[in-house]
Amino acid sequence: MVKVSVDLSKTAPFATVKEIEGLSQLAKKSNQALHDGNGKGNDFLGWVNLPNEITTDHINDIKAAASTLSEGVDVVVVIGIGGSYLGAKSVIDALSNSFNQYTKGKHPHVIFAGQNIGEDYHAELLDYISTQSVGCVVISKSGTTTEPAIAFRLIKQHIEERYGKTEAKRRIVAITDESKGALRQLADTEGYKTFVIPDNVGGRFSVLTPVGLLPIAIAGFDIEKLVEGAKEMAKQCLPSVEFSSNPAEQYAAARNVLYSKGKKVEMLVNFNPKLHFFAEWWKQLFGESEGKENKGIFPAAADFSTDLHSMGQYIQEGERILFETFIGIENVNRSLLVPKDNDNLDKLNFLAGKHVDEVNKMAELGTIIAHLDGGVPAIQLKIEKIDELNLGAAIYFFEKACGISGYILGVNPFDQPGVEAYKANMFALLDKPGFEEEGKKIRARL
Ligand code: PA5
Repeated sequence: MVKVSVDLSKTAPFATVKEIEGLSQLAKKSNQALHDGNGKGNDFLGWVNLPNEITTDHINDIKAAASTLSEGVDVVVVIGIGGSYLGAKSVIDALSNSFNQYTKGKHPHVIFAGQNIGEDYHAELLDYISTQSVGCVVISKSGTTTEPAIAFRLIKQHIEERYGKTEAKRRIVAITDESKGALRQLADTEGYKTFVIPDNVGGRFSVLTPVGLLPIAIAGFDIEKLVEGAKEMAKQCLPSVEFSSNPAEQYAAARNVLYSKGKKVEMLVNFNPKLHFFAEWWKQLFGESEGKENKGIFPAAADFSTDLHSMGQYIQEGERILFETFIGIENVNRSLLVPKDNDNLDKLNFLAGKHVDEVNKMAELGTIIAHLDGGVPAIQLKIEKIDELNLGAAIYFFEKACGISGYILGVNPFDQPGVEAYKANMFALLDKPGFEEEGKKIRARL
């Protein structure tokens, strides 16, 4: 059975079992509210039952679109930002061979654009794709986000000039709202194949919609297994499952007790470089959901043991405002032993014959204990291995924990009013029609 196990034995003395259990009722009530739809932001709860609602026909439609788009294509540029980017990026990165960009495989390489406004980045991207046979998936729920819209102008122009309008139609798929927004209008006018992002699923909760599933399928991964893992986890996180065996409620409660003790920064840490972007996805999920009304745990992340040689010093001895959440991977997918060396100049022959992962695991355990001794408590999460099933389970686990945790904190976890402020200033500074007055005001401040 797929699972995410939660070990809270290294949160004490900062958060004791009793204190965490003290939040169990509120955690359960918050979980129930997600199912009853009577909490804040209740028009964005489509993700709660989503894994159970995904039909075989829907999966087949996504797989068929992936294979049509992939025909004779080397590279698919997936355009999107925030929730329309990080889910697919995190799963594809976790499941891909770390060096796949240097080799040609059976499936197209999935690369990303529209997640920044870097001129160099996009110019280099155009250079690169002009050497490859290219397709594109453009994703925007609102259909009006500036970053992906600029990237799509560039990629659309490239594809149309190179292949002509008719072939461009086969090479471009759009994922957007069912009826609203500029991207919907454009896709309908051009006749692109489209997929819909349900109204009641917000961007950062949309990995299990076509937003995540189509790019993941194009990269050659098993989206049925991903959904199956999420489905299984959804059962384990139901409000009817008692607190002591409910991973999402336990994690949500523990992190809120630590927060109430002044541990205001949570670092999601891994000992597997494949999880780097999974942590980026998690940062968005929790940061955008909880950081409001001048409160919320600040989500940060580190890749260990890499960052033990940089951030490790601060974590061990800096401001005592941190706690860590470790995602441990029980079993690696490959097998490699440390070789013996006759000269033994590095004095490491005591490791010869051991699995590299055994050394990694002891580094992990050593780190947990060292940081706890330094005043940094640890929540330990474990998944069996990195594959579609376990990632699907981990995605749903974090989504559920995030919803519960946001309700414990008392905020609406499903809106993001704070992301508008920079956009208004940017439009004013760029003289967008309708922003003339704001433009004058902001210039007077410069
Ligand atoms: O979680 C969110 O809602 C945001 O991060 C959005 O996904 C992001 O801003 C992109 O929006 P859109 O898909 O409308 O272009």
